[in-house]
Amino acid sequence: MKKILITGGAGYIGSHTAVELWNAGLEPIILDDFSNSHEHVLDRLAEITGKRFAFYRGDCNQRELLDQIAQEHQLAGVIHFAAFKAVGESTQQPLAYYKNNLGSLLVLLEFMQDKGIQNIVFSSSCTVYGQPDVLPVTEATPRKDAESPYGNTKKIGEDILVDYVKSKPGIRVVALRYFNPVGAHPSAKIGELPMGTPQNLVPFITQTAAGIRQKLTVFGNDYDTPDGSCVRDYIHVVDLADAHVKALRFLFEKTLDFYEVFNVGTGRGNTVLEVIHAFEKVNGLKLAYEIGPRRAGDVVKTWANTTKINQVLGWYPKFSLEDCMKDSWRWQLTLDTK
Ligand code: WQD
Repeated sequence: MKKILITGGAGYIGSHTAVELWNAGLEPIILDDFSNSHEHVLDRLAEITGKRFAFYRGDCNQRELLDQIAQEHQLAGVIHFAAFKAVGESTQQPLAYYKNNLGSLLVLLEFMQDKGIQNIVFSSSCTVYGQPDVLPVTEATPRKDAESPYGNTKKIGEDILVDYVKSKPGIRVVALRYFNPVGAHPSAKIGELPMGTPQNLVPFITQTAAGIRQKLTVFGNDYDTPDGSCVRDYIHVVDLADAHVKALRFLFEKTLDFYEVFNVGTGRGNTVLEVIHAFEKVNGLKLAYEIGPRRAGDVVKTWANTTKINQVLGWYPKFSLEDCMKDSWRWQLTLDTK
């Protein structure tokens, strides 16, 4: 069974990807420092899959730890999730973001070269497109100046990989540009665990519905969109996880020194208000929300053209927005309300 190192594998997307890898006959090896995840996720993964995955506590800047993992496991590839990801925080702590997100990528790539590990899937983001001039977004859509140091680490990370592959190091790379990951595993055993006040829409919705937050503020309804609120492409985290499995399988068949980018979204755009109404409808709830001022830096509307990932990886989303809202709420109900 091929073993895959998942950096950040106890995190939101990492943990869901570990499940889908296992379901696809691949064995996850998890590396996580719990800076944005919890140790009990490992127990939940064992409950879902019936397998306790090998786990190493630490981060990708620890080269000696990476060497220990390679000593103990023959790795067929790496999925690199581990990164700081809070847009707002990154503007306050840019150096921490550049050091962690880019430093760890550099250490990881040197490690892979030294150990002859040839396949990596890199977690990128639609944030590299900024506000696209033409919608839906294709992989040929020009990237724009990042709106935050976080977004810039994704853009620079892609550039590092492109330049590195050009030097013919003997690796194959896929960068996946995520749109907006939402939802939770249908088992409700794993899901999004935001630390502190959620910055993202859906955890704020579910925490408001759970009474943890008083009210949700819709950041503006005076945009040039169907109902005035911003448009995003919300993709179920299990669909997103499956895209990583298909990306790895694609890499296994490719020649070395290969780099390819894929958008990972549903191809559908939904407004904030549509998300709220879908949540209310599918869960039979009324959500306390108000319209507030716009949030600085927000992209007005973006959603993916998914032709490339559909045709090249044979990947299609299976879950609807309603499924996302149902699974998010079912997951929230398992969490403490304190
Ligand atoms: C979605 C929409 C908000 C909260 C960011 C990063 C992206 C990825 C996902 C890490 C926007 C509105 C939100 C609220 C609201 N991050 N909103 N009230 O900004 O599209 O993407 O998070 O991987 O890289 O850029 O996601 O969920 O913050 O916002 O009205 O309380 O919901 O204005 O229109 P975003 P989001």
